Amino acid sequence: MTSFTTRVRFILGALALALALIVAVAAPASAQQRNPDNSVNPTASSVKEDQLFQQLDRISGRCTIPDQKACTIEQPAGRDWRHFHEVTLRWIGAIAILGILALLVLFYLSRGMIRIQSGRSGRVLVRFSAFERLVHWMTASCFVVLAITGLNITFGKPLLLPLIGPDAFAEWAQWAKYAHNYLSFPFTLGVVLIFLMWIAWNIPNKVDVEWLKQGGGMVGHKHPPAYRFNAGQKMIYWIVVLGGGLVAASGYLLMFPFYGTNIADMQVAQVIHGVVALLFIAAMLGHIYIGTIGMQGAFEAMWDGTVDANWAKEHHSLWAEQEAAKGHISGTAPEGRMQAAE
Ligand code: HEM
Repeated sequence: MTSFTTRVRFILGALALALALIVAVAAPASAQQRNPDNSVNPTASSVKEDQLFQQLDRISGRCTIPDQKACTIEQPAGRDWRHFHEVTLRWIGAIAILGILALLVLFYLSRGMIRIQSGRSGRVLVRFSAFERLVHWMTASCFVVLAITGLNITFGKPLLLPLIGPDAFAEWAQWAKYAHNYLSFPFTLGVVLIFLMWIAWNIPNKVDVEWLKQGGGMVGHKHPPAYRFNAGQKMIYWIVVLGGGLVAASGYLLMFPFYGTNIADMQVAQVIHGVVALLFIAAMLGHIYIGTIGMQGAFEAMWDGTVDANWAKEHHSLWAEQEAAKGHISGTAPEGRMQAAE
């Protein structure tokens, strides 16, 4: 009798266990992840990320490291920021940089190089001292490296990574990041020195209004008068000073995270840094164009420091008069210049 009861109990127990297993396997996963009031149970072991998002808008929990910010893995503002970084910023950069390049190509094809209309005189004026040129080239070379390494952060993943593969990209991106961090210091010094050494010639005045009204002589062949820097150059100066100041300030906030900033401030700093930097690059492409293939006689001003007297008369007539009055026009052009540039 006892053994019969034991056997029946055993069979019933086995049936109950089998039934429980079948129910457990067949039941929808969500049933286990819901509280009795049907809200998501965030502690359920099988809770899914997207369900958490729908209900809680974030993934966060407890962690043992001191930085409690790290316990939030995803949250809405983070997703907005990621969208900005991976979509919006790339569009802004692509439109600004490709747009300016297209305009420059069109301008070059229609206008060509702006030549010294009256030809070279063979007499030169000193335009920039050795110190001014040193500061200019130090800042410019840092800028170029900062631009390339910064663009790698914005566009490297979609454009370069598929071309060179993950190992090479990781290696390059790491060196690029070091270069971006360390060259920021001489770049900032350069921006400060540029601000101080050229401020006196870059305050806007009435001559600039007239220069702008005449389109700077870019269209047609007129040469509106200008002092040492014309309105176009003054714009470049202020873009460098203000744009450089903004990328430096926001860049240091990014480089030294959470010193007086929270996550929202860091996101603002990154948005400012990314947008200003990309517009800055676009503006500098215009500056590089006019200083090289866009205008005959401009590059030498920053290379050996002198310009032809006729170039000065055409592009900076008021400055040329001032220099002539001071007796600053020398008798000879540096060797090779007359032949090389004609
Ligand atoms: C003092 C100067 C600068 C400092 C301290 C600085 C610092 C930084 C830092 C820390 C980052 C973030 C890097 C990361 O996410 O790992 C960054 C990103 C970036 N920087 Fe700079 N930077 C400076 C100047 C510049 C300049 C002059 C340019 C452009 C010519 C530039 C272009 C960029 C770009 C495009 C990004 C990527 C933005 C993004 O996609 O999120 N930076 N910079």
